[in-house]
Amino acid sequence: MAIERTLAIIKPDAVGRGLTGEILSRIHAAKFRIIVIKTRRLTKREAEGFYAVHRERPFFAELTEFMSTSKAVVMVLEAENAIAKWRDTMGATDPSKAASGTIRKDLGASIQCNCTHGSDAPETAAFEIGYFFSGSELV
Ligand code: CMP
Repeated sequence: MAIERTLAIIKPDAVGRGLTGEILSRIHAAKFRIIVIKTRRLTKREAEGFYAVHRERPFFAELTEFMSTSKAVVMVLEAENAIAKWRDTMGATDPSKAASGTIRKDLGASIQCNCTHGSDAPETAAFEIGYFFSGSELV
């Protein structure tokens, strides 16, 4: 298996509920290496650019509004097979359908307030990491 990097976000719902430490503990327990991490309040425009792939979906306006309401934690995680591994650690998008022991099952409130985001493929990871971090932050 190859060493990969993925973008991870602790979304505003989780930050607002004081879950940042709990989620970072799970990231450490799963043995990801955090390459870079920062807190950011996204502008609506940044959220729209980040989620542009979903712009035709009915939830786009609500999603980008929610993602720009308050601070999020944005980071790059590295591990073997990091993209799939982080998606497994998060669980399914809809917390009610997520496997037990996953972040979204244990902590998520709804399909929108589902605590975390992760890239879904190598091309998406490259776009999403480059959206928030420059080359010198990624060495
Ligand atoms: P995320 O992994 O960040 O990718 C897109 C987000 O859209 C997703 O998590 C959900 O939080 C949000 N979303 C809101 N409604 C839906 C829906 N009906 N189906 C899929 N994603 C949704």
